[in-house]
Amino acid sequence: MGIKKLIEKKYYSIFVFGCAMNISDAERIKAVMDQHGYKQRQNNTDIIILVACSVRQSPIDRIWGILNKVKSRKSKVKNFPNRKPIVVLTGCVLPEDINKFAPRVDIIVDINNIKNIPELIIHGAVEKKIKKTNKLRYFEVEPIRKSKFSALVPIMTGCDNFCSYCAVPYTRGREYSRPAYEIIKEIKKLVSKGYKEIILLGQNVNSYKSKVNNATMRRLNNNTIARLPHGSIVNFPILLRAVSLIPGNFWIRFFTSHPKDLSDELIKTIKECDKVCRHINLPAQSGDNDILKAMNRKYTVGEYKKLIQKLKKSIPKIAISTDIIVGFPGETKKQFEHTARLLQEVEYDMAYIARYSPRPNTKAVELDDNVSHQEKKRREQVLTKILKKTALKNNKKYIGKQVEILVEKKIDNHYYWGKTNSYKHIKIKSPKNLCGRFANAKVISATTWALKGILVDN
Ligand code: SAH
Ligand code: SF4
Ligand code: F3S
Repeated sequence: MGIKKLIEKKYYSIFVFGCAMNISDAERIKAVMDQHGYKQRQNNTDIIILVACSVRQSPIDRIWGILNKVKSRKSKVKNFPNRKPIVVLTGCVLPEDINKFAPRVDIIVDINNIKNIPELIIHGAVEKKIKKTNKLRYFEVEPIRKSKFSALVPIMTGCDNFCSYCAVPYTRGREYSRPAYEIIKEIKKLVSKGYKEIILLGQNVNSYKSKVNNATMRRLNNNTIARLPHGSIVNFPILLRAVSLIPGNFWIRFFTSHPKDLSDELIKTIKECDKVCRHINLPAQSGDNDILKAMNRKYTVGEYKKLIQKLKKSIPKIAISTDIIVGFPGETKKQFEHTARLLQEVEYDMAYIARYSPRPNTKAVELDDNVSHQEKKRREQVLTKILKKTALKNNKKYIGKQVEILVEKKIDNHYYWGKTNSYKHIKIKSPKNLCGRFANAKVISATTWALKGILVDN
Protein backbone atom coordinates (compact mmCIF):
# COMPACT_ATOMS: atom_id res chain seq x y z
CA MET A 1 0.00 0.00 0.00
CA GLY A 2 1.37 3.44 -0.93
CA ILE A 3 2.22 5.91 1.80
CA LYS A 4 -0.34 8.31 0.37
CA LYS A 5 -3.18 5.85 0.86
CA LEU A 6 -2.04 4.96 4.35
CA ILE A 7 -1.80 8.51 5.53
CA GLU A 8 -5.01 9.62 3.96
CA LYS A 9 -6.92 7.30 6.20
CA LYS A 10 -5.30 8.59 9.31
CA TYR A 11 -6.31 10.59 12.30
CA TYR A 12 -4.74 13.87 13.37
CA SER A 13 -4.65 15.80 16.62
CA ILE A 14 -4.12 19.53 17.09
CA PHE A 15 -2.38 21.10 20.09
CA VAL A 16 -3.01 24.82 20.38
CA PHE A 17 -0.92 27.29 22.41
CA GLY A 18 -1.25 31.04 22.86
CA CYS A 19 -4.18 33.33 22.36
CA ALA A 20 -7.58 33.24 20.65
CA MET A 21 -5.89 34.00 17.33
CA ASN A 22 -4.24 30.57 17.40
CA ILE A 23 -7.48 28.91 18.50
CA SER A 24 -9.15 30.51 15.50
CA ASP A 25 -6.34 29.37 13.20
CA ALA A 26 -6.70 25.83 14.53
CA GLU A 27 -10.34 25.95 13.39
CA ARG A 28 -9.08 26.82 9.90
CA ILE A 29 -6.51 24.01 10.01
CA LYS A 30 -9.25 21.59 11.00
CA ALA A 31 -11.26 22.68 7.95
CA VAL A 32 -8.29 22.07 5.63
CA MET A 33 -7.57 18.64 7.14
CA ASP A 34 -11.20 17.49 7.18
CA GLN A 35 -11.65 18.57 3.55
CA HIS A 36 -8.82 16.21 2.70
CA GLY A 37 -10.44 13.29 4.48
CA TYR A 38 -8.43 13.28 7.73
CA LYS A 39 -10.24 12.82 11.03
CA GLN A 40 -9.51 14.70 14.23
CA ARG A 41 -9.24 13.01 17.59
CA GLN A 42 -7.60 13.78 20.91
CA ASN A 43 -4.79 11.26 21.33
CA ASN A 44 -2.82 8.48 19.70
CA THR A 45 -2.81 9.94 16.22
CA ASP A 46 -0.21 9.56 13.50
CA ILE A 47 -0.35 13.22 12.56
CA ILE A 48 0.28 15.77 15.27
CA ILE A 49 -0.21 19.45 14.45
CA LEU A 50 1.34 21.96 16.83
CA VAL A 51 -0.09 25.48 16.63
CA ALA A 52 2.68 27.13 18.60
CA CYS A 53 3.09 30.49 20.34
CA SER A 54 6.49 32.14 20.87
CA VAL A 55 5.18 35.01 22.98
CA ARG A 56 6.58 33.55 26.20
CA GLN A 57 8.97 30.74 27.06
CA SER A 58 6.39 28.56 28.87
CA PRO A 59 4.29 27.56 25.82
CA ILE A 60 7.54 26.77 23.97
CA ASP A 61 8.66 24.56 26.86
CA ARG A 62 5.35 22.71 26.71
CA ILE A 63 5.96 21.91 23.05
CA TRP A 64 9.31 20.34 23.98
CA GLY A 65 7.34 18.18 26.41
CA ILE A 66 5.06 16.96 23.62
CA LEU A 67 7.99 16.34 21.25
CA ASN A 68 9.75 14.24 23.88
CA LYS A 69 6.67 12.08 24.29
CA VAL A 70 6.23 11.70 20.54
CA LYS A 71 9.86 10.63 20.10
CA SER A 72 9.32 7.49 22.15
CA ARG A 73 6.07 6.60 20.39
CA LYS A 74 5.70 4.30 17.43
CA SER A 75 2.91 4.54 14.90
CA LYS A 76 0.37 1.76 15.06
CA VAL A 77 0.27 1.59 11.29
CA LYS A 78 2.60 -0.96 9.74
CA ASN A 79 4.71 0.54 6.95
CA PHE A 80 4.11 4.04 8.27
CA PRO A 81 7.23 6.08 7.45
CA ASN A 82 9.78 5.06 10.11
CA ARG A 83 6.76 4.05 12.18
CA LYS A 84 6.83 7.47 13.83
CA PRO A 85 3.99 9.98 13.94
CA ILE A 86 4.33 12.97 11.58
CA VAL A 87 4.72 16.24 13.46
CA VAL A 88 3.64 19.50 11.82
CA LEU A 89 4.75 22.79 13.34
CA THR A 90 2.85 25.98 12.58
CA GLY A 91 1.37 28.99 14.40
CA CYS A 92 3.22 32.02 15.73
CA VAL A 93 6.81 30.85 15.96
CA LEU A 94 9.95 32.96 16.10
CA PRO A 95 12.69 32.01 13.59
CA GLU A 96 14.98 31.13 16.54
CA ASP A 97 12.41 28.72 17.94
CA ILE A 98 11.82 27.27 14.45
CA ASN A 99 15.53 26.53 14.11
CA LYS A 100 15.57 24.74 17.45
CA PHE A 101 12.48 22.68 16.63
CA ALA A 102 13.49 21.91 13.03
CA PRO A 103 15.45 18.68 13.69
CA ARG A 104 12.57 17.33 15.79
CA VAL A 105 9.58 18.00 13.51
CA ASP A 106 8.73 16.76 10.02
CA ILE A 107 6.93 19.72 8.53
CA ILE A 108 7.21 23.41 9.30
CA VAL A 109 4.62 25.56 7.67
CA ASP A 110 3.89 29.26 7.83
CA ILE A 111 0.44 29.99 9.23
CA ASN A 112 -0.51 31.76 6.00
CA ASN A 113 0.20 28.53 4.11
CA ILE A 114 -2.03 26.17 6.09
CA LYS A 115 -3.74 25.17 2.85
CA ASN A 116 -0.50 23.35 1.95
CA ILE A 117 -0.45 21.09 5.04
CA PRO A 118 -2.14 18.03 3.43
CA GLU A 119 0.16 18.18 0.42
CA LEU A 120 3.23 18.54 2.62
CA ILE A 121 2.13 15.53 4.68
CA ILE A 122 1.78 13.38 1.60
CA HIS A 123 5.13 14.35 0.17
CA GLY A 124 6.81 14.36 3.55
CA ALA A 125 8.41 17.66 2.67
CA VAL A 126 9.93 20.07 5.14
CA GLU A 127 9.09 23.60 4.19
CA LYS A 128 12.24 24.79 5.88
CA LYS A 129 12.28 28.18 4.29
CA ILE A 130 9.12 29.77 5.60
CA LYS A 131 7.58 31.60 2.70
CA LYS A 132 5.62 34.64 3.81
CA THR A 133 2.71 34.44 1.47
CA ASN A 134 -0.74 35.51 0.76
CA LYS A 135 -2.75 36.29 3.89
CA LEU A 136 -5.88 36.43 1.75
CA ARG A 137 -5.48 32.78 0.83
CA TYR A 138 -5.41 31.90 4.49
CA PHE A 139 -8.54 33.86 5.29
CA GLU A 140 -10.26 32.16 2.36
CA VAL A 141 -10.41 28.99 4.44
CA GLU A 142 -13.77 28.76 6.15
CA PRO A 143 -13.14 27.49 9.68
CA ILE A 144 -14.92 24.54 11.24
CA ARG A 145 -15.90 26.09 14.54
CA LYS A 146 -15.99 24.18 17.77
CA SER A 147 -18.84 26.24 19.18
CA LYS A 148 -22.25 26.49 17.59
CA PHE A 149 -23.03 29.81 19.26
CA SER A 150 -19.78 31.72 19.83
CA ALA A 151 -17.55 32.55 16.87
CA LEU A 152 -14.01 33.87 16.66
CA VAL A 153 -13.69 36.21 13.69
CA PRO A 154 -10.21 37.62 12.98
CA ILE A 155 -10.46 41.10 11.49
CA MET A 156 -6.72 41.66 11.22
CA THR A 157 -3.44 39.90 11.86
CA GLY A 158 0.09 41.02 12.57
CA CYS A 159 1.35 44.02 14.47
CA ASP A 160 3.36 47.13 13.64
CA ASN A 161 3.85 48.36 17.20
CA PHE A 162 7.09 46.61 18.12
CA CYS A 163 6.72 46.72 21.89
CA SER A 164 10.28 45.99 22.95
CA TYR A 165 9.48 42.68 24.73
CA CYS A 166 7.08 41.23 22.18
CA ALA A 167 7.52 38.46 19.63
CA VAL A 168 4.28 39.05 17.74
CA PRO A 169 5.61 41.46 15.06
CA TYR A 170 8.24 38.83 14.22
CA THR A 171 5.89 35.85 14.26
CA ARG A 172 2.81 37.35 12.65
CA GLY A 173 4.52 39.98 10.53
CA ARG A 174 3.13 43.36 9.53
CA GLU A 175 -0.46 44.39 10.13
CA TYR A 176 -2.97 43.21 7.61
CA SER A 177 -6.68 44.10 7.85
CA ARG A 178 -9.27 41.95 6.15
CA PRO A 179 -11.63 43.80 3.80
CA ALA A 180 -14.73 44.97 5.67
CA TYR A 181 -16.90 43.36 3.04
CA GLU A 182 -15.49 39.93 3.77
CA ILE A 183 -15.85 40.33 7.56
CA ILE A 184 -19.46 41.47 7.36
CA LYS A 185 -20.37 38.72 4.93
CA GLU A 186 -18.90 36.13 7.32
CA ILE A 187 -20.73 37.56 10.35
CA LYS A 188 -24.06 37.76 8.50
CA LYS A 189 -23.74 34.08 7.71
CA LEU A 190 -22.88 33.24 11.33
CA VAL A 191 -25.84 35.22 12.68
CA SER A 192 -28.19 33.56 10.20
CA LYS A 193 -26.93 30.20 11.50
CA GLY A 194 -27.89 31.26 15.03
CA TYR A 195 -24.53 32.40 16.46
CA LYS A 196 -25.07 34.57 19.54
CA GLU A 197 -21.59 35.89 20.21
CA ILE A 198 -19.21 37.31 17.61
CA ILE A 199 -15.67 37.84 18.88
CA LEU A 200 -13.62 40.16 16.67
CA LEU A 201 -9.94 39.36 16.89
CA GLY A 202 -6.76 41.27 16.21
CA GLN A 203 -3.48 42.01 17.97
CA ASN A 204 -4.55 45.61 18.00
CA VAL A 205 -8.10 45.90 16.73
CA ASN A 206 -7.93 49.67 17.13
CA SER A 207 -5.58 49.96 14.20
CA TYR A 208 -7.95 48.11 11.87
CA LYS A 209 -8.05 49.89 8.50
CA SER A 210 -9.47 48.85 5.17
CA LYS A 211 -10.55 50.77 2.09
CA VAL A 212 -14.08 51.07 0.80
CA ASN A 213 -14.41 49.38 -2.53
CA ASN A 214 -17.75 50.37 -4.03
CA ALA A 215 -18.06 47.37 -6.28
CA THR A 216 -18.12 44.96 -3.36
CA MET A 217 -19.63 47.28 -0.75
CA ARG A 218 -22.76 47.97 -2.76
CA ARG A 219 -23.70 44.33 -2.41
CA LEU A 220 -23.41 44.66 1.34
CA ASN A 221 -26.62 46.50 2.02
CA ASN A 222 -25.09 47.91 5.19
CA ASN A 223 -25.79 51.60 5.67
CA THR A 224 -22.71 52.46 7.70
CA ILE A 225 -20.25 51.42 5.04
CA ALA A 226 -22.36 51.61 1.89
CA ARG A 227 -22.72 55.37 2.19
CA LEU A 228 -18.95 55.98 2.44
CA PRO A 229 -17.32 57.17 -0.80
CA HIS A 230 -15.17 54.79 -2.82
CA GLY A 231 -11.62 54.71 -1.49
CA SER A 232 -12.41 56.05 1.98
CA ILE A 233 -11.11 54.31 5.08
CA VAL A 234 -13.11 51.93 7.25
CA ASN A 235 -11.59 52.20 10.72
CA PHE A 236 -12.43 50.04 13.72
CA PRO A 237 -15.33 52.16 15.06
CA ILE A 238 -16.93 52.22 11.58
CA LEU A 239 -16.51 48.46 11.27
CA LEU A 240 -18.00 47.95 14.74
CA ARG A 241 -21.03 50.06 13.82
CA ALA A 242 -21.45 48.16 10.58
CA VAL A 243 -21.32 44.81 12.39
CA SER A 244 -23.83 45.96 14.97
CA LEU A 245 -26.21 46.95 12.16
CA ILE A 246 -26.47 43.36 11.02
CA PRO A 247 -30.00 42.31 11.97
CA GLY A 248 -30.33 39.65 14.68
CA ASN A 249 -29.98 39.04 18.38
CA PHE A 250 -26.26 38.72 19.09
CA TRP A 251 -23.39 40.17 21.11
CA ILE A 252 -20.15 41.60 19.77
CA ARG A 253 -16.86 41.38 21.66
CA PHE A 254 -13.39 42.40 20.56
CA PHE A 255 -9.82 41.64 21.66
CA THR A 256 -7.43 43.45 22.04
CA SER A 257 -7.14 47.24 22.15
CA HIS A 258 -3.85 49.11 22.36
CA PRO A 259 -4.38 52.11 24.67
CA LYS A 260 -2.50 54.47 22.35
CA ASP A 261 -5.14 53.94 19.65
CA LEU A 262 -8.29 53.98 21.78
CA SER A 263 -10.16 56.94 20.28
CA ASP A 264 -13.10 58.97 21.53
CA GLU A 265 -14.91 57.75 18.41
CA LEU A 266 -14.49 54.16 19.60
CA ILE A 267 -15.78 54.94 23.12
CA LYS A 268 -18.81 56.67 21.56
CA THR A 269 -19.41 53.69 19.28
CA ILE A 270 -19.31 51.17 22.15
CA LYS A 271 -21.73 53.38 24.06
CA GLU A 272 -24.16 53.79 21.17
CA CYS A 273 -24.20 50.22 19.87
CA ASP A 274 -26.24 47.98 22.16
CA LYS A 275 -24.84 44.80 20.68
CA VAL A 276 -21.28 45.72 21.68
CA CYS A 277 -20.56 44.13 25.06
CA ARG A 278 -19.77 46.21 28.13
CA HIS A 279 -16.25 44.90 28.57
CA ILE A 280 -12.88 46.04 27.32
CA ASN A 281 -9.41 44.56 27.64
CA LEU A 282 -6.98 47.46 27.76
CA PRO A 283 -3.46 46.15 28.39
CA ALA A 284 -1.48 48.59 30.53
CA GLN A 285 1.61 46.31 30.79
CA SER A 286 3.12 48.57 33.48
CA GLY A 287 2.17 51.45 35.76
CA ASP A 288 5.55 53.16 35.54
CA ASN A 289 6.44 55.78 32.93
CA ASP A 290 10.09 54.78 32.53
CA ILE A 291 9.21 51.13 32.11
CA LEU A 292 6.45 52.01 29.63
CA LYS A 293 9.03 53.98 27.66
CA ALA A 294 11.49 51.09 27.72
CA MET A 295 8.63 48.85 26.57
CA ASN A 296 7.93 51.24 23.66
CA ARG A 297 4.26 51.42 24.60
CA LYS A 298 3.86 55.07 23.47
CA TYR A 299 1.60 56.28 26.30
CA THR A 300 2.16 57.49 29.84
CA VAL A 301 0.46 56.24 32.99
CA GLY A 302 -1.40 59.56 33.15
CA GLU A 303 -2.74 59.14 29.61
CA TYR A 304 -3.76 55.56 30.38
CA LYS A 305 -5.62 56.60 33.53
CA LYS A 306 -7.44 59.36 31.61
CA LEU A 307 -8.66 56.77 29.12
CA ILE A 308 -9.96 54.62 31.96
CA GLN A 309 -11.78 57.62 33.45
CA LYS A 310 -13.33 58.45 30.07
CA LEU A 311 -14.47 54.85 29.60
CA LYS A 312 -15.98 54.62 33.08
CA LYS A 313 -17.71 57.97 32.71
CA SER A 314 -19.16 57.32 29.25
CA ILE A 315 -20.11 53.68 29.84
CA PRO A 316 -20.69 53.28 33.60
CA LYS A 317 -21.40 49.54 33.40
CA ILE A 318 -18.19 48.71 31.58
CA ALA A 319 -15.92 45.99 33.02
CA ILE A 320 -12.22 46.52 32.45
CA SER A 321 -9.44 43.96 32.23
CA THR A 322 -5.75 44.36 31.48
CA ASP A 323 -2.46 42.61 30.70
CA ILE A 324 0.56 43.26 32.92
CA ILE A 325 4.18 42.15 32.68
CA VAL A 326 6.15 41.94 35.94
CA GLY A 327 9.94 41.91 36.09
CA PHE A 328 10.70 43.69 32.82
CA PRO A 329 14.51 44.16 32.62
CA GLY A 330 15.63 46.78 35.13
CA GLU A 331 12.19 47.09 36.81
CA THR A 332 13.00 48.30 40.32
CA LYS A 333 10.87 47.64 43.40
CA LYS A 334 9.71 51.26 43.27
CA GLN A 335 8.74 51.02 39.62
CA PHE A 336 6.85 47.83 40.39
CA GLU A 337 5.03 49.63 43.23
CA HIS A 338 3.74 52.09 40.59
CA THR A 339 2.14 49.16 38.76
CA ALA A 340 0.64 47.91 42.03
CA ARG A 341 -0.78 51.40 42.58
CA LEU A 342 -2.30 51.42 39.08
CA LEU A 343 -4.11 48.16 39.85
CA GLN A 344 -5.41 49.59 43.10
CA GLU A 345 -6.63 52.77 41.42
CA VAL A 346 -8.26 51.27 38.33
CA GLU A 347 -9.92 48.46 40.30
CA TYR A 348 -9.77 46.00 37.42
CA ASP A 349 -12.27 43.20 36.96
CA MET A 350 -9.52 40.98 35.61
CA ALA A 351 -5.78 41.15 34.91
CA TYR A 352 -3.64 38.71 32.94
CA ILE A 353 -0.32 38.93 34.76
CA ALA A 354 2.78 37.55 33.04
CA ARG A 355 6.33 37.23 34.34
CA TYR A 356 8.68 38.74 31.77
CA SER A 357 10.53 36.22 29.64
CA PRO A 358 13.16 37.32 27.12
CA ARG A 359 12.19 36.57 23.54
CA PRO A 360 14.85 36.17 20.85
CA ASN A 361 14.83 38.83 18.14
CA THR A 362 13.13 41.49 20.27
CA LYS A 363 14.72 44.74 21.43
CA ALA A 364 14.42 43.89 25.13
CA VAL A 365 16.46 40.71 24.74
CA GLU A 366 19.53 42.94 24.61
CA LEU A 367 18.71 44.19 28.14
CA ASP A 368 19.82 42.31 31.21
CA ASP A 369 16.95 40.11 32.46
CA ASN A 370 18.00 41.06 35.98
CA VAL A 371 14.85 40.56 38.05
CA SER A 372 15.20 37.14 39.63
CA HIS A 373 12.67 34.40 39.04
CA GLN A 374 11.78 34.51 42.74
CA GLU A 375 11.18 38.27 42.67
CA LYS A 376 9.04 38.04 39.52
CA LYS A 377 6.94 35.43 41.29
CA ARG A 378 6.61 37.69 44.35
CA ARG A 379 5.54 40.64 42.20
CA GLU A 380 2.98 38.51 40.44
CA GLN A 381 1.58 37.41 43.81
CA VAL A 382 1.34 41.00 45.07
CA LEU A 383 -0.65 42.01 41.98
CA THR A 384 -2.88 38.93 42.17
CA LYS A 385 -3.73 39.83 45.76
CA ILE A 386 -4.81 43.34 44.72
CA LEU A 387 -6.72 41.97 41.74
CA LYS A 388 -8.61 39.50 43.94
CA LYS A 389 -9.81 42.36 46.13
CA THR A 390 -10.92 44.63 43.27
CA ALA A 391 -12.51 41.78 41.31
CA LEU A 392 -14.53 40.73 44.36
CA LYS A 393 -15.54 44.32 45.08
CA ASN A 394 -16.75 44.74 41.46
CA ASN A 395 -18.55 41.40 41.45
CA LYS A 396 -20.41 42.22 44.67
CA LYS A 397 -21.96 45.24 42.94
CA TYR A 398 -23.95 42.78 40.81
CA ILE A 399 -25.76 41.20 43.78
CA GLY A 400 -29.51 41.78 43.51
CA LYS A 401 -29.22 43.01 39.90
CA GLN A 402 -30.68 41.39 36.81
CA VAL A 403 -28.24 40.47 34.06
CA GLU A 404 -28.51 39.07 30.57
CA ILE A 405 -26.34 36.01 30.12
CA LEU A 406 -25.24 33.69 27.37
CA VAL A 407 -25.36 30.13 28.68
CA GLU A 408 -22.20 28.26 27.66
CA LYS A 409 -21.94 24.84 29.22
CA LYS A 410 -23.53 22.29 31.47
CA ILE A 411 -21.73 21.60 34.75
CA ASP A 412 -23.87 18.80 36.11
CA ASN A 413 -27.52 18.06 36.60
CA HIS A 414 -29.35 21.36 36.26
CA TYR A 415 -26.33 23.63 36.72
CA TYR A 416 -24.79 25.67 33.90
CA TRP A 417 -21.95 28.13 33.34
CA GLY A 418 -22.61 31.27 31.36
CA LYS A 419 -21.14 34.71 30.81
CA THR A 420 -22.65 38.08 31.41
CA ASN A 421 -22.44 40.79 28.80
CA SER A 422 -19.60 42.25 30.90
CA TYR A 423 -17.64 38.97 30.61
CA LYS A 424 -18.28 37.66 34.13
CA HIS A 425 -18.60 33.94 34.69
CA ILE A 426 -22.00 33.13 36.15
CA LYS A 427 -23.41 29.87 37.48
CA ILE A 428 -27.14 29.27 37.18
CA LYS A 429 -29.60 26.51 37.86
CA SER A 430 -31.98 25.56 35.09
CA PRO A 431 -34.41 22.67 34.65
CA LYS A 432 -33.89 22.78 30.87
CA ASN A 433 -30.80 22.88 28.70
CA LEU A 434 -30.17 26.49 27.79
CA CYS A 435 -26.69 26.04 26.24
CA GLY A 436 -26.09 28.54 23.46
CA ARG A 437 -29.06 30.67 24.45
CA PHE A 438 -29.53 34.02 26.07
CA ALA A 439 -31.22 34.07 29.46
CA ASN A 440 -32.00 36.57 32.19
CA ALA A 441 -30.74 35.96 35.69
CA LYS A 442 -30.82 37.69 39.03
CA VAL A 443 -27.45 37.65 40.76
CA ILE A 444 -27.70 36.19 44.27
CA SER A 445 -24.06 35.93 45.32
CA ALA A 446 -20.55 36.76 44.17
CA THR A 447 -17.05 35.36 44.59
CA THR A 448 -13.75 36.71 43.25
CA TRP A 449 -13.98 35.07 39.85
CA ALA A 450 -17.68 34.33 39.41
CA LEU A 451 -21.30 35.20 40.11
CA LYS A 452 -24.18 32.95 41.03
CA GLY A 453 -27.66 33.67 39.75
CA ILE A 454 -31.21 32.44 39.52
CA LEU A 455 -33.15 32.48 36.28
CA VAL A 456 -35.93 35.01 35.83
CA ASP A 457 -38.68 34.93 33.17
CA ASN A 458 -37.07 32.49 30.74
N1 SAH B 1 -1.55 42.92 21.40
C1 SAH B 1 -1.71 42.84 22.78
C2 SAH B 1 -0.91 41.74 23.45
C3 SAH B 1 -0.49 40.53 22.70
S1 SAH B 1 0.64 39.47 23.48
C4 SAH B 1 -1.30 44.19 23.42
O1 SAH B 1 -0.77 45.03 22.78
O2 SAH B 1 -1.49 44.36 24.57
C5 SAH B 1 -0.28 38.97 24.90
C6 SAH B 1 0.34 39.34 26.21
O3 SAH B 1 1.49 38.58 26.46
C7 SAH B 1 0.83 40.78 26.31
O4 SAH B 1 -0.19 41.66 26.61
C8 SAH B 1 1.88 40.70 27.39
O5 SAH B 1 1.33 41.01 28.65
C9 SAH B 1 2.34 39.26 27.34
N2 SAH B 1 3.70 39.21 26.81
C10 SAH B 1 4.13 39.53 25.58
N3 SAH B 1 5.46 39.37 25.48
C11 SAH B 1 5.90 38.95 26.69
C12 SAH B 1 7.17 38.62 27.23
N4 SAH B 1 8.28 38.70 26.51
N5 SAH B 1 7.22 38.20 28.53
C13 SAH B 1 6.10 38.10 29.27
N6 SAH B 1 4.88 38.42 28.82
C14 SAH B 1 4.76 38.83 27.54
FE1 SF4 C 1 2.97 42.76 20.94
FE2 SF4 C 1 2.81 45.34 21.40
FE3 SF4 C 1 1.89 44.36 19.13
FE4 SF4 C 1 0.62 43.89 21.40
S1 SF4 C 1 0.89 45.89 20.45
S2 SF4 C 1 1.10 42.40 19.80
S3 SF4 C 1 2.27 43.71 22.87
S4 SF4 C 1 4.03 44.39 19.77
FE1 F3S D 1 1.00 34.01 20.79
FE2 F3S D 1 0.55 34.57 18.30
FE3 F3S D 1 -1.27 35.10 20.08
S1 F3S D 1 2.48 34.87 19.35
S2 F3S D 1 -0.15 35.48 21.95
S3 F3S D 1 -0.57 33.12 19.56
S4 F3S D 1 -0.82 36.25 18.21
